[in-house]
Amino acid sequence: MNTMNRVAIVTGAASGIGKAIAFSLSQSDHQVVIADLSESGAAVAEEINISGKKCVFHNVDVSIKGSVQEFVHQIDGQFGRIDILVNNAGIRPTNPFREMDFEDWDKVMKVNLYSSFYFCSAVLPIMERNRWGRIINISSLAAQQGSTGGHSHYAASKAGIVGLSKSLAREYGRSGITVNVVAPGWIDTPGWGGALDGKREQFAKKVPVGRIGRPEDVADAISFLASDNAEYITGITLPINGGLYIS
Ligand SMILES: NC(=O)c1ccc[n+]([C@@H]2O[C@H](COP(=O)([O-])OP(=O)(O)OC[C@H]3O[C@@H](n4cnc5c(N)ncnc54)[C@H](O)[C@@H]3O)[C@@H](O)[C@H]2O)c1
Repeated sequence: MNTMNRVAIVTGAASGIGKAIAFSLSQSDHQVVIADLSESGAAVAEEINISGKKCVFHNVDVSIKGSVQEFVHQIDGQFGRIDILVNNAGIRPTNPFREMDFEDWDKVMKVNLYSSFYFCSAVLPIMERNRWGRIINISSLAAQQGSTGGHSHYAASKAGIVGLSKSLAREYGRSGITVNVVAPGWIDTPGWGGALDGKREQFAKKVPVGRIGRPEDVADAISFLASDNAEYITGITLPINGGLYIS
């Protein structure tokens, strides 16, 4: 199949890692569909279109089941296919466990974990119909080593993504669909909320490869997992952390 016709949905691609994924997939001639709550996604799509590649932006709240279903239905109707899904949208609010209430927990679960369920369940029948698909879900170092400093809900949501992905990999392998996870370490994005400002060198010293990660480090790995060359890879969790955590 010509990758030029492949349609890739990337959630949370208005910023950070998702934006780099949208660029990377578009450069290899995929038609990229950005689903993000932030209107900045329109500017990302425009930048990609100016570079001569194909990208559209849709304003979607990934934590609302009905919105995800409606969006996926619309994209399937428009393109007649959805080949690649990257569940990247995520939030990481800080709530020390002693002060965390149900609403804090629930919000993070809905945006980070339930969204993956909503998207996978809407997209998988379309991939099955076409007998080809790539799903890449974004977890985190926090799922592997736990999270300090008020991110236990975040770590739990990211660990849930791993269990979901491993299970889907086993259920859908015979349908030509692979499901994998990438687990980034410290990647320099707006998602850090400025926490790296003035401290990049200090953080970099803790990373065995000697630098903070770039969004492109994650995007390159995802482009590979989304390709035909990764046909025999499914159910893995790929750490992209510069050696920060070696299991
Ligand atoms: N940056 C890191 O160091 C790091 C490390 C591990 C994992 N991750 C994960 O990588 C992913 C991307 O993180 P990032 O650092 O690029 O963050 P970011 O904040 O720069 O980008 C996240 C994007 O998700 C979108 N988003 C948030 N809630 C949404 C919703 N309800 N519906 C639709 N879109 C929504 C935001 O608008 C934003 O564009 C996240 O899942 C994050 O947990 C990041």
